[in-house]
Amino acid sequence: MSEPATPSSRPRILSGMRPTGKLHLGNYMGALANWVKLQDQYECYFFIADWHALTTDYADTSKIIPNTKEVMLDYLAAGLDPARSALFLQSKVPQHAELALLLGMITPLGWLERVPTYKEQQENLSSKDLTTYGFLGYPLLMASDILLYRPDFVPVGQDQQAHVELTREVARRFNQFYKLDGQEVLPEPKVLLTPSPKLPGTDGRKMSKSYGNTIQMTDPEPEVRKKLKTMVTDPARIRRSDPGDPDKCPVGDLHKVFSTPETMAKVYEGCRSAGIGCIECKSWAADALVQVLIPIQERRARYTDADVEDILNDGSDRARARAGQTMQQVCAAMQLTSTR
Ligand code: TRP
Ligand code: SF4
Repeated sequence: MSEPATPSSRPRILSGMRPTGKLHLGNYMGALANWVKLQDQYECYFFIADWHALTTDYADTSKIIPNTKEVMLDYLAAGLDPARSALFLQSKVPQHAELALLLGMITPLGWLERVPTYKEQQENLSSKDLTTYGFLGYPLLMASDILLYRPDFVPVGQDQQAHVELTREVARRFNQFYKLDGQEVLPEPKVLLTPSPKLPGTDGRKMSKSYGNTIQMTDPEPEVRKKLKTMVTDPARIRRSDPGDPDKCPVGDLHKVFSTPETMAKVYEGCRSAGIGCIECKSWAADALVQVLIPIQERRARYTDADVEDILNDGSDRARARAGQTMQQVCAAMQLTSTR
């Protein structure tokens, strides 16, 4: 048996989410469950990107604080462990703004205009005026979030890959201009692509808050069962006597992610032979979901508001210490007066 790694000898990772409100099973399976596992191998920094919420929702800021609290509770409920990981809030670490400002000085406008989500989001969220400087600068604030902690890896889903690529390019440009005693100050982090299973929402589309088809991490058992009952199934199975195909059914996709091989076998056999009804099949899927949700909800219930506050303050202190070290080196390399 090898010695367990001490925190400082482990490779470091950083990731975060915007405070969009209560998280759902898609967020859990697509990110959080993976982060929880990474805690065993890496020195971890996980944060809530509350300033990022302003890039699209600057006009109504009333939800940021309550949403931050919910996301933090979901982090803890999922099993992120404040004793091992620094769990922090972006706005409690002013270095994020400082580095973003400095990186803005060296980043060509074209790099930001070419980020694929820039035009896409402007079109998708056409009800909001996203022609702001802050929205264009979103990837640069994200680059600053990352580079401040000099992580080896950034665990993200595919949708964020282009942002990490830009982060690498910005770091490279910075390192070309500025060095400290001949050394690079901002190492380029690598993407750690999160394997995310296909998780359908109740309407069969990808589970997503914007589609209103989610099962939340806080949904109690009756709610989970109710949502499953309304879930769409294989459209070929109109009557109970019609055979179906779990590979063409969103409920089948849920089984693939959450059910045991034994249940899966019963689903395949029963669906294809019309031996089971969809109602029964859905109740098995609900059973499996509830088994996943119970420990999450039990953990969530153990944290008070004061705990959340303390954990965020403590994690943010740790983050500030590390971010402060990086900023000292950044300022020294740039031959600027240190910000503190
Ligand atoms: N852009 C990310 C998202 O929307 C959130 C985020 C902000 C982030 N800063 C980050 C993720 C730094 C990883 C690292 O999901
Ligand atoms: Fe889908 Fe299950 Fe119905 Fe088959 S039996 S169509 S897998 S819900």
